[in-house]
Amino acid sequence: MQQTSSMRGTTTPVSRFDPAPPPASAADDPLAAQLRRATPSQLALLPIRAFFGVTFLYAGIDKLLDPAFLDPAAPGSIGDQLQVFARVSPLAPLVRLVEPWSPAVGLVVALAEIAIGLGALTGLAFRAAALGGAALSLLFFLTASWTTHPYYYGPDLPYAIGWIALAIGGTGGLLVPRAVGRLGATTRASAPPGALREGTSSAMSEPAASPSRRLLLQAAVLGGLSLIVASVALPVRFARPASSAEGDGAGLSNDGPSAGETTSPGASSTGAIPGRSPAGSPGATAAPFRPTGLAVASIASVDRKGAVSIRIPADAPSPLPAGDPGVIVRLADGRYVCFDAVCTHEGCRVAWDARDSVLLCPCHGAAFDAADHGAVLAGPTNTPLPELPIVVDKVAGTISLRA
Ligand code: FES
Repeated sequence: MQQTSSMRGTTTPVSRFDPAPPPASAADDPLAAQLRRATPSQLALLPIRAFFGVTFLYAGIDKLLDPAFLDPAAPGSIGDQLQVFARVSPLAPLVRLVEPWSPAVGLVVALAEIAIGLGALTGLAFRAAALGGAALSLLFFLTASWTTHPYYYGPDLPYAIGWIALAIGGTGGLLVPRAVGRLGATTRASAPPGALREGTSSAMSEPAASPSRRLLLQAAVLGGLSLIVASVALPVRFARPASSAEGDGAGLSNDGPSAGETTSPGASSTGAIPGRSPAGSPGATAAPFRPTGLAVASIASVDRKGAVSIRIPADAPSPLPAGDPGVIVRLADGRYVCFDAVCTHEGCRVAWDARDSVLLCPCHGAAFDAADHGAVLAGPTNTPLPELPIVVDKVAGTISLRA
């Protein structure tokens, strides 16, 4: 936005892409004066700026605090999400390229969100932050929201448009701390320090700003602030228990049965798996796929937790969805059921919600009935969750996928 310093009574032009729109004296004004002076269009951007700033800051911190997000082995991790995006996104080749470094990708995304949120709230490198918000939202739209139909159900495109509006509008000099307004300002050539004193008149009394210098300094400060916020959040995240130690039991749990835990009715209970020792044998994925199935969980672990998350082996024969996450649930009537855990809406990973006894998608709230073959209970999809055939071997204490 072409902005002049008319607010402070001069006509010094400010660059269209000035990263620090507020003149120093404007930032010095009390908030009430700033708001009085603002145009309706500048005021109209304030709620968007506040909401987007808080939301992106929160989203970044939330990702860092989430013990599952950066853990490649945890359900719902960034690695899981990239795996889904690699199947559905128009950016699939790019996603596949970065997939091996999923924790680093997650960390960069979280840091970017924190920086963008802080930039929006403080005015630091504001337009650059807003453009970053637009780019990140577009990236989310092309990956996480790509399969959302109709498109207006997805939040990322509106975010991108909102960020573009903020990048065009700038801060208008509103709610920008004085220190930010002056960051990167320089006195003219070798102007004496007194030239910066407040109350002196004429352009000589104003700090002469170089847009590129301002941008550089403000971006550096913004980056530093973001790292400080992240450095506070990350220790908290590591102090919390890993996701695999709670919830529905992430990973290919095979803890082995204990006495009295292997007598449950339900899914077909035939087909002992040759060569498998259930008791305490870790790494169910290491077993080759047999005609009778591949053990993916122990009955004991499902009984203990009510449900366990699994990964369908990459070499699982068709029609099993090789490589997909899955979930095995013990129903109230004692039966065991297994589902492909990729949501039929847009591919997020569903998880067992023990409180409501439903399979729940965290993205848009789709709920599936495990007791009714994955039928849709609620949410923006009409397609049931695919049920996978399993074999429950009470003797070996294992639950296996059946091709
Ligand atoms: Fe939208 Fe699951 S991905 S409800």
